[in-house]
Amino acid sequence: MSERTLVLIKPDGVERGLVGEVIGRIERKGLKLVAMDLRQVDQKLAEQHYAEHDGKPFFGSLLEFITSGPVVAAVVEGPRAISAFRQIAGGTDPVDKAAPGSVRGDYALEVQYNLVHGSDSPESAERELKLWFPDLKA
Ligand code: PPS
Repeated sequence: MSERTLVLIKPDGVERGLVGEVIGRIERKGLKLVAMDLRQVDQKLAEQHYAEHDGKPFFGSLLEFITSGPVVAAVVEGPRAISAFRQIAGGTDPVDKAAPGSVRGDYALEVQYNLVHGSDSPESAERELKLWFPDLKA
């Protein structure tokens, strides 16, 4: 049973030269890259991607951050890919929640600058993959 998840390496990850580190961890875990590109996120895509957080106090700064520089967007596939990548990423708060050995646990300090995004459920993955990679075949 294979599934797909959307992975983003956010502007801080690209700026800090951590793309190879994150992709290496994905590949070494045994997950497969199905699509990947470097892109500048516009306001519309940012708003759609983070729509569920509209109204939260950090919404504005989250949009500003994700549009502040190029991101790597990737479709990652494998058995339990959604949970597997969230384990690689670590918890949202890089200090209080992310375990050492995870990307955030090893390389991040602040919630906003937490380097990566991964879909959090099959429903989110379906929505996010359509949004970011509308032409991708099943
Ligand atoms: S929530 O409120 O529990 O639904 O939020 P959470 O799922 O933990 O986080 C959703 C995304 O918002 C980012 N985030 C923040 N950004 C800036 N400042 C603050 N305080 C903050 N809190 C959460 C967090 O990194 C998540 O981004 P993604 O890209 O989804 O991982």
